[in-house]
Amino acid sequence: MRAWLLEGFDGLTSLRLAGDVPRPNISVDEVLVRIRFAALNPADRFLSEKLYPATPPLPHVLGRDGCGVIEEVGRDVTAWKVGDHVTLLRGEAGVQRWGTLSEFLAVPQEVLVPIPDGWDQPQAAAAPLVYLTAHQALTQWGTVKDGVVLITGISGGVGMAALHLAKAMGYRVIGTTRGTAKHEMLLEQGADLLLDPASPANLKREIKAFTERKGVNVIVDSIGGKLFSTLLDVMANKGGISTIGALGGPVPSFNTAKLIFKRTRIGGVYVNDYYGERAQSAWSEILELLQKVGKTPVVDSVFSMIELMEAFAHLERGPTGKVVIRIAD
Ligand SMILES: NC(=O)c1ccc[n+]([C@@H]2O[C@H](COP(=O)([O-])OP(=O)(O)OC[C@H]3O[C@@H](n4cnc5c(N)ncnc54)[C@H](OP(=O)(O)O)[C@@H]3O)[C@@H](O)[C@H]2O)c1
Repeated sequence: MRAWLLEGFDGLTSLRLAGDVPRPNISVDEVLVRIRFAALNPADRFLSEKLYPATPPLPHVLGRDGCGVIEEVGRDVTAWKVGDHVTLLRGEAGVQRWGTLSEFLAVPQEVLVPIPDGWDQPQAAAAPLVYLTAHQALTQWGTVKDGVVLITGISGGVGMAALHLAKAMGYRVIGTTRGTAKHEMLLEQGADLLLDPASPANLKREIKAFTERKGVNVIVDSIGGKLFSTLLDVMANKGGISTIGALGGPVPSFNTAKLIFKRTRIGGVYVNDYYGERAQSAWSEILELLQKVGKTPVVDSVFSMIELMEAFAHLERGPTGKVVIRIAD
C-alpha cells in the first residue's frame, strides 16, 4: 500500500511517500479500513517535531482523522461489516499507532462511527477531532444562559467547530481573526462580532460595548501568547478560559491578581480525554447540536496524496475550516 512514512523527528522533512508498505494486520476485535480521505491537524506537524506528548516507534504514519470503507473485519467484530462507510472518532491512530495518511488503517471497532446523514466524505474525514475538542472546551465550565463565548483563531478547524456548537448552545459568539479577509464567511457561519487579535485596546473596547460591560463567559483559546493577558481583562464574573493550543507561543508573565476579583477559571482541554463511550456520547450530542442549527463541517480545501507538503504549508498559513487529503477515490 501507499503511505506517508515518518522516518525521523526532524519535522515534516522526515516524511516520505512510500509505495511498498505492507498492509497492517488486524486483531480479532479490529477492522481494516480502506481510507478515502484524511484530514490534517496542527498536532501532526508537532508530533513530527517531537513537540507532542507522544513518541511512537519509527517508521510512523501520521493522521488522526479520516474516513473510508471497511475492507476486512476481525473474528469478534459485531458492530461492522465489510463495505460499511465509516469515519474515525478520537483514538490512538496517528499518535501511538499508524494513522490515516495511508491507504489502509487497522483500528479497534469502537473508535468508528457511521458517516452522518447529509455529509460528504471530506466533511466526515475532517470533523471528529476538532468538534470533540470544541465540545470539551465549551462544556467543561457548565453552560451559561444568554452567555457570550469568545473564540480565538475562530477561522481554524477548532474555531469553526466551536462557533457551530456555541451557536447551537444558545451563546452569542465573538471571534478573533487576523485581518478582515475571512469576515464575510465567518459572519455567514454565525459569528456575531469579529475582532483582530493584533489590536488589544480595540478588542477590549469592542467586547465591553458588545457585552454591555459584563464581559465574556467562556473563552475557547487556541492562541495564548501575548493575547492571553487581554483575554483575562475581558472575562465576565466566574467565567472560564478553555486553553486548547498555544499558536501564539508562551504566555508572558501576568499578575495572578487578575484572576481573583472575577474568580476566573483557567483549564486545559485535551481531546484524548474523550475515548470509547465518552467520545461516542459527545459525538451524538455534537450531531444533535449541528442539526439544530443546520450546520455541517466546513472544509477549506482538498489536496491529493502527493500534495501533502503543500497541504501542511496551507494549514500553517491559516485556512478557513479544515484541510483534507484525498487518499483514494
Ligand atoms: N488540546 C487539544 O486536545 C487540541 C485538539 C485540537 C487542536 N489543538 C490545538 O489547537 C490549536 C488550533 O487548532 P486548529 O486545528 O484550529 O488549527 P488551525 O486550523 O491551524 O487554525 C488556527 C487558526 O488560528 C489563527 N492563528 C494561527 N496562528 C496564529 C497566531 N500566531 N496568532 C494569532 N492567530 C493565529 C489562524 O486564523 P486567522 O488566520 O484567521 O487569524 C488559524 O486559522 C492548535 O495549536 C492545535 O494543535 C489542541
